[in-house]
Amino acid sequence: MTNAATAAVHGEHDSNPWWTRAVVYQVYPRSFADSNGDGIGDLGGIRSKLDYLAELGVDAIWLSPVYPSPQHDNGYDIKDYQDIDPVFGSLAEFDALLTAAHSRGLKIIMDLVVNHTSDEHPWFVESRSSKDNPKRDWYWWRPTADASSAGAVGGPPNGWGSAFSGPAWTLDPITDEYYLHLFARQQPDLNWENPEVRRAVYTMMNWWLDRGVDGFRMDVINFIAKRAELVSGPQASLGGGSPMGPQIHDYLQEMHREVFAGRTGEHLTVGEMPGVTVEDARLFTDPARAEVDMIFQFEHVSLDQGQTKFHFLPRSLPALKASLGRWQGGLAETGWNSLYLNNHDQPRLVSRFGNDSEFRFESATLWALVLHLHRGTPYIYQGEEIGMTNVHFESITDYRDIESLNHYREAVAEFDRTGQFDQAPATVLEGVHTMGRDNARTPMQWDDSAHAGFTSGTPWIAANPNFAAVNVAADRAAKRSVFRFYQRLITLRHTLPTVALGDFTMLEPNHEALYAFTRTLGSETLLVVANAADAPLTTPLPADLSGAELLLGNYPAAEQTGTGEAPLRAWEARLYRLATRTANS
Ligand code: NOJ
Repeated sequence: MTNAATAAVHGEHDSNPWWTRAVVYQVYPRSFADSNGDGIGDLGGIRSKLDYLAELGVDAIWLSPVYPSPQHDNGYDIKDYQDIDPVFGSLAEFDALLTAAHSRGLKIIMDLVVNHTSDEHPWFVESRSSKDNPKRDWYWWRPTADASSAGAVGGPPNGWGSAFSGPAWTLDPITDEYYLHLFARQQPDLNWENPEVRRAVYTMMNWWLDRGVDGFRMDVINFIAKRAELVSGPQASLGGGSPMGPQIHDYLQEMHREVFAGRTGEHLTVGEMPGVTVEDARLFTDPARAEVDMIFQFEHVSLDQGQTKFHFLPRSLPALKASLGRWQGGLAETGWNSLYLNNHDQPRLVSRFGNDSEFRFESATLWALVLHLHRGTPYIYQGEEIGMTNVHFESITDYRDIESLNHYREAVAEFDRTGQFDQAPATVLEGVHTMGRDNARTPMQWDDSAHAGFTSGTPWIAANPNFAAVNVAADRAAKRSVFRFYQRLITLRHTLPTVALGDFTMLEPNHEALYAFTRTLGSETLLVVANAADAPLTTPLPADLSGAELLLGNYPAAEQTGTGEAPLRAWEARLYRLATRTANS
């Protein structure tokens, strides 16, 4: 259904932004579809799959970065913001993709990575060349620490660590000063305090919007504003926590004024923001403040992480419900949620929160139903719509992600030094199996031919060996299809204003297996009940189901019992429309 048609169905509610009733699909271009046999996915590959995405029914595609890049972090290290990396295609091919997407009613959202550039970006090449280069102040340069600063004398300015292991400061021999990089050393942080940097970014964003793109997913955008003590000595105690500084709201408001304010048309801005609270999020997404439409928060995907993300913890359904429920409540009156369990940085949801062997179909569809019935804009990550799973490569040499490889190298070196058990190679590899980002980055599984039909060449990372059983063709031919279930969820969001806009109420917050909630708009109440466990649910469902209409379930209709006392089966999820009660009924 096109946006205009969806808006028509929503009738009186269509004054709300288009993205309240939209579903976004994330493509990780490297791993989606390869059209030229070089083993790396590309724009031609994406174009060849647009009919597939249109059939799924999504409204917009978010493209992970396709700009020229040395690819140390798979494109999140950009060396030219206004071109396409030859490995993915060309600007002409990008325009062709955009036209082809728009002709199918699909919007294209670009990834905007402006917290940092690549160290090969001409801005940084200039900046590092001398202390008095005009671009010196476009990045964060600091001398080695002296006695008055937090860092060890003669070392980095302070002890801040990079997200990809090791210190966040690297000494550059050219000028003998340190530069800041919150991620890899090949990803130096831009200095947003410099107005020239901000202007250059806004010019670039306007260039893409003028070209026809429909918005931006903004990479770690809250980190563009740095806490003063992170970058300016002397620092008594730096502490840990988020690097985000309070200027962030000014920057985002300025960006909105300079880039979006004068534009007509339907755009989307979603800011990735690690470490923010629901109170922060209300400020970021309050339409009256004109900052961003929605954010990606991390609380619910951090609950199972220990001292590092690779030190994973047991999962708790009550904790997950408490977190997601709090975000639903916190943004109920003002602001808007994005909804995701998967993206290119997260393990596969069916392996993390479900049962990816015996109940793969059931648990994939359960989480789909639960997530898509929350209030917010749902994001589907490629392969999620066919229930793709985590991968367990036997050797660390099969992995490609800089974060996992750096962590493995550091941890195992530590083990060699101290013999500390949790750093033993097998334990570290288990952490990578369970939490590593390559779980999301193995090739999209299209069919059971070589390399899952992703490439005719040798893929840059091997396909998950389960591709013969788990693939698009098999899923779509199956009686129980995850793809068709997602199609129905998307249609529900397009057609039922209660799914898009209804108030959210969590039920049974402490139940260890039951995820249950209602959505209410006017006189309509929808009920979701989901048994997130391998064993049947035996406790009664938390609502009067007499006269209720079953709108969607993940077990065949003949097997649904539909009565109030009925237990739910393993990983069974149902969506009901409850009967409307009058005052005397
Ligand atoms: C967040 C992105 O999602 C991730 O993939 C990337 O490595 C970091 N930001 C750095 O750009």
